[in-house]
Amino acid sequence: MQTPGEFELSRRGVLAGGAASVATAALVPIGAAAEAREAAAALPTAKVAFDVNGTAHELELDTRTSLLDALREHLKLTGTKKGCDHGQCGACTVIVDGRRINSCLTLAVMHDGDRITTIEGLGTPDKMHAMQDAFVEHDGYQCGYCTPGQICSAVAVLGEIKAGVPSHVTADLTAAPKVTAAEIRERMSGNICRCGAYSNIIDAITDVAGVKA
Ligand code: FES
Ligand code: FES
Repeated sequence: MQTPGEFELSRRGVLAGGAASVATAALVPIGAAAEAREAAAALPTAKVAFDVNGTAHELELDTRTSLLDALREHLKLTGTKKGCDHGQCGACTVIVDGRRINSCLTLAVMHDGDRITTIEGLGTPDKMHAMQDAFVEHDGYQCGYCTPGQICSAVAVLGEIKAGVPSHVTADLTAAPKVTAAEIRERMSGNICRCGAYSNIIDAITDVAGVKA
């Protein structure tokens, strides 16, 4: 059995050992950080030029940068949200050359020469886009995190229907699709709202389209 003195010694030993481990652990991240910096310096970069909300931008980016990260981290346009970063929630939806895309699923360097519209380009608090107005009018949000993506998607959806693009629920492929709740639900199904504001979102979109849901 240990005497109190022996116990004290072994306790000190443990403390000293612990301190040494902490010191070693503190050194590892420093070395790792230097390695990470060297690795980052060696990464391939490329120039990309595109128009965002009417302003021309030229960026030199790590070729793996998503369009979402280019917008948020490099251009500081944080209206476009990062939800899942895996193409599953629609929070990052932007309009590229008139078509909506999940900006987390596409590389920025693939958009050289493209015209990109984010929520900041649709309207401003003083001069809102009709869809933004309708979302406010119909209470189409709660926390608002999904809302920029919902609005960009909704604007593009009305454009798709107007252009005659059918969806999975279009019954008659020989006739022009109509703005109905079923069409909107189907086309907006990639935009998830955790707050469940779906009914009001449908009301907002049908309002802008000038039809009853
Ligand atoms: Fe892009 Fe969720 S953040 S789809
Ligand atoms: Fe909160 Fe849609 S308003 S996630």
